[in-house]
Amino acid sequence: MRRKLVAGNWKMNGTLATNAALLKEILHGLGTLPACDVAVCAPAPYLAQCQQLLDGTAVAWGGQDVSVHEAGAFTGEVSGAMLRDVGCRYVLVGHSERRAYHGETDALVAQKALRAVRAGVVPVVCVGETLAQREAQQTGAIVGGQLDAVLAVLDDADLSNIVLAYEPVWAIGTGKTATPEMAQEVHATLRQRLARRNPETAAQTVILYGGSMKPDNARQLMAMADIDGGLIGGAALKAADFLAIIHAA
Ligand code: PGA
Repeated sequence: MRRKLVAGNWKMNGTLATNAALLKEILHGLGTLPACDVAVCAPAPYLAQCQQLLDGTAVAWGGQDVSVHEAGAFTGEVSGAMLRDVGCRYVLVGHSERRAYHGETDALVAQKALRAVRAGVVPVVCVGETLAQREAQQTGAIVGGQLDAVLAVLDDADLSNIVLAYEPVWAIGTGKTATPEMAQEVHATLRQRLARRNPETAAQTVILYGGSMKPDNARQLMAMADIDGGLIGGAALKAADFLAIIHAA
């Protein structure tokens, strides 16, 4: 049985003061033993703050990107070992905003996933199609190709330490959500593709849905057989909404 995961993606938002207030409210509303795993993915400067405020709680924390390099002269980059050093359990890799605005290719995303996993940080590998790709009936081919690039570089042991996130690009921050059936279809395709490589790992892999998941649609989405939680953007910045999604899981 896969345990659900609800992960917040704060993107480039927050201050020391607003983060502290948000985390305090989340911890207060969570109770001692939430029924699912919970995490927040914060901007790099605030990961040490997350460690300070969340260590020993039910809320894990993670980064939003990781360098493809291990260490050295790569100004501005953050390594997997650094993320591990500030206690990150997770790191997002290949978010569509990084693919679109920073030119990240499938191959680069796969190398980042490898770096994270080898540093002891679970990569949350994001895949998803644009609206034009969906309309051209290329969804399966696009997300399949994004996953295949990762499968090509991770060995079986690495693969058992990743999380996948299906985030249709057209649903991110737009208020348009994939219907539970649409999302389930893609999640099932991803799981079948994983199963071709390793059926046991495929059965265990947590596959999140992301893209305008809100308190009013979270329950139906997460009720689908292959949807194991959510990657939450906008709604993760409001404690009440984030808590409502956690309680729906
Ligand atoms: P959204 O973002 O929930 O605001 O659509 C999701 C994401 O980009 O991870």
